[in-house]
Order: sequence, then structure tokens, then C-alpha cells
Amino acid sequence: MVLTIIKSPGLFIYKSRYTLLIVCFSHLLHPYYGIDAQPEGSRAHGIISLTNIEFIPNRVKIGVGDTLTFVNKDKFDHDVYIVRTANLNEVLFPATTIPSGGSTKVIIEEEGLFNLYCTIHGGMIGKITTTGSFELTEEEKQRAARKKVLPPIVKAGEELFWGTAQCYQCHKIGDRGDALRGPSLSDIGFRARIRAGILGLGSATEYLVQSILEPQAHVVEGYTNAMPKVYQPPVDLHEEELKAVVTYLQSQGGNVDTWEINIDRQKLDTEPSMNPFRNGDPQRGETVFKDAGCNSCHIVGDQKAVSPGPELTEIGAYRNWTWLAESVIDPNAEIGANWKNADVYLKIGEMVTGILRKNTDEEIKLLVSQDHLRTFSGDEIERVEIDESTKMPNYRFLTFEQISDLISYLQTLRGDTK
Ligand code: HEC
Ligand code: HEC
Repeated sequence: MVLTIIKSPGLFIYKSRYTLLIVCFSHLLHPYYGIDAQPEGSRAHGIISLTNIEFIPNRVKIGVGDTLTFVNKDKFDHDVYIVRTANLNEVLFPATTIPSGGSTKVIIEEEGLFNLYCTIHGGMIGKITTTGSFELTEEEKQRAARKKVLPPIVKAGEELFWGTAQCYQCHKIGDRGDALRGPSLSDIGFRARIRAGILGLGSATEYLVQSILEPQAHVVEGYTNAMPKVYQPPVDLHEEELKAVVTYLQSQGGNVDTWEINIDRQKLDTEPSMNPFRNGDPQRGETVFKDAGCNSCHIVGDQKAVSPGPELTEIGAYRNWTWLAESVIDPNAEIGANWKNADVYLKIGEMVTGILRKNTDEEIKLLVSQDHLRTFSGDEIERVEIDESTKMPNYRFLTFEQISDLISYLQTLRGDTK
């Protein structure tokens, strides 16, 4: 890419072959530059705030040549990376860090559809459309068509992902699925390349394989080390299945190449640790579950629950005994993403407690009961207090036998999966 850089104090102008113009203002000079500059009701409003690990809004339509301002309202760094949707190799704006409180301005002087990423935070994805017409060029159409012809192993991987491999319990991709436990894997094949670069790995595929074989090696920001070892029970994928799943991930915006996938058999052979609770009785466990009040917060099958908690209908299909035991004995050890508690103080003097599902200046969403999500607009709110601990009580007081029974019962919860 030909890049001309004209520098002046606090102001950088990049002009590339793609006639993209980027102006970065130093955040020190102008901490919230752009917020006041919003001409209301105009197409050229173009402000995207980076809040709570999200682009808000995450879909924008602007005119060619309009200014788009990115404002980082989070307490940590983000970056902005823009590529053409039809050709993810065509980088319009290389990842540039926007520190907390900082902002960056971008002008796209071309028509088209563009993907937007933060390379630091996997789940942050957006789309930008620039007008006149929303039509793709002939070349873009051809490229998109070529992308659709994929080897059959990708299909096998797709079926595993949305089926027995259980990935869908925690990950969604694009509009498919609604899981909250793990990050969205939209365009993961593409983002893996950026991650690999940052982490010093050889290739995007190496990152994908590592994410699955050694999920603890790199934990996506905003999440905890909560991805199971899917090559061990209960998911228990074998080598060929792992390969298929990896090709499916490659197909999400990356290059599909089965030969590149190198699965270290030694890693697969590590034995899961022996379950000390293995002699429990699932039927007695079901009674413990009800007597201990677990069902007041957890849906199992068609049994209803009142207070908010994750559904456990299929928990035994993807969580091992270690996780289940820890969840019961020490629930604060690893609080699931999207299960943080918050107290929201409203200006009218009311206080509402719930699970924080969205937290931006404009809007707060609180899950106040299993099927009730309340939304408050920014103007209604006086302050929000986020609690880092879980609503789930600990059950350390149960006897060893009761815990064994309970875990044996949870392991039988596999929904329709086998
Ligand atoms: C029980 C929940 C759970 C299941 C099941 C699960 N994952 Fe994950 N996964 C997570 C969480 C949580 C993270 C983020 C923490 C981390 O990076 O390890 C993650 C991270 C990832 C990442 C890295 C994402 C990024 O943005 O870099 C990939 C890739 C991934 N998972 C693939 C898979 C695949 C493929 C499967 C199915 C074989 C799967 N996961 C099953 C919870 C899960
Ligand atoms: C007051 C509500 C409440 C009660 C009662 C409760 N839980 Fe939970 N539980 C939660 C919440 C909220 C989470 C998610 C946050 C976290 O990870 O701690 C959770 C998480 C879990 C998880 C992890 C789920 C996952 O997706 O990995 C398991 C397993 C679990 N609970 C089992 C139980 C069992 C067994 C009992 C009874 C002995 C119980 N819970 C009682 C609220 C509750």
C-alpha cells in the first residue's frame, strides 16, 4: 500500500492508494473531540463510540467523504481496523490504538461496504456502508461469489460447530445463535490473523488451533478462561473433528487450508483428572438440586426459574466435573461473561438490581428476572454500581455425598445431545 504521511504537531494525515484519509487528533489535545461536532439529523453525523467493548452504533451508513469519529469511552485502549467486506485483505485503515478517552477521525472516500474491528477485543465488530449507491462493484460481487465455494470439510465443521461439538452453547456467528458465554466468532478466520501477529504466532491457523487446544494461552479481553478443553470429556472431539471445526473457523473471513492445520497429538493425549465425585447418584442429585433451590435461578428443560441465572438444560454436554464442582463450591471463582450484577440508581429515587447486559451512556439493560430485561435511557439514570461478585450463593455447606449426587445429576443434563 502506498502511504503518504504528512505530519504536523498533533495532526496526522494519511493518504493511501485507496484515497482514504485519516486524521488522528492526539487525545491529549482534545480528549472528547467530535462529540460536540455532531450536526443533528444529518447523514454525516458519523460518531461511533467505543463503549463497553462494543462499537455503538455497530452499523453505520455514511456518505463518501463524510467524517466518522471514533471515541473511546472505555477505561482501556481500543483500536480501529477497517477493511473492505468483499476483500478482507484490502486494509483501509490499519489498527491504530485509541487510548481511553481518545478519539480518531476517519474519512472513507470510496463507495462500498466495510468491516470494522477492534483487534484487541474479539467481539467488537461493525459494518460501515458508504453511499451513493449501496451496490457492490462487479469485482466485489465476483470475489464474494468465489468465497462461497468451499471444500466439504467446512460443511462438516459447520455441522459440528452447531451440533455435537457444542461451540454454539457459548459462541454465536453473525446473526446465527444467541450464546453469551463466549465471544462472537464472526469473521474469526480473519481476526485470527491479526491476533497471530500480535501474539507472535506463525499464522492465523496457528491461533485458531491454539484457541481450541490451549484456550488458557490467550484469553480474549472481557472474558475469563471459561472455554472448555473440547478434546476432553464431555465434548471429546477427536483429531479429525477438530480439523473440520478449524476449517469452518478459517472459512469465517480467512483462508481455508486444511494442510496448515497442525494438531499436536501429545496435547490431545493429556488425561483429564480423575473425578472424585464420580460415585454420586443422579436421582438423589435431582432432589438436592430442588431442595437447595438451584431451580429458582436455573432453567432445566421446561422447568421454569424466577431469578436470573444461566440455563442448565444441556450443561452436562459441555462442562466437565471440575467446572461443575467449582460452580457449586466456589461460584465467585469464575463469573461468566454477561453475568455481572449491578445496582442502577434512577433519578426518581428508585434503585433496580439485576444482571448488567448493556452499559453505555445512552442505555442500560438489566436482566431483572429470568424473562424480564429492563431498559433505561441514560437520562433516567443517576448512577450505576457494578458488583464484581456473583448472585449465585456458594454451597460449600453441602456434604461430600450431596455434592457428588448433584454433580452426577448435572452431568446427565444433556438436552437432546448425546
Ligand atoms: C462453555 C463455553 C464454550 C464452549 C462450549 C466453547 N467455547 Fe470457545 N470460548 C469460550 C470463551 C469464554 C472464550 C473466551 C476466553 C478465551 O479466550 O479462552 C472462548 C474463546 C474462543 C476462541 C477465541 C476467540 C477470539 O476472539 O480470539 C475461539 C476461536 C473459540 N473459542 C472456538 C471455539 C470452538 C470451535 C468451540 C467448539 C469446538 C468452542 N469454542 C466451544 C467459551 C466456549
Ligand atoms: C440466586 C440465584 C442462583 C442460585 C440459587 C443458584 N445459582 Fe447457579 N448461577 C447463578 C448465576 C447468576 C450464575 C452465573 C454467574 C456465575 O458464573 O457465577 C450461575 C452459574 C452456575 C453454573 C455455571 C453455568 C455455566 O454456564 O457454566 C452452574 C453449573 C450452576 N450455577 C449450578 C448451580 C447449582 C447446582 C445450584 C444449586 C446448588 C445453583 N447453581 C444455585 C445463579 C444461581
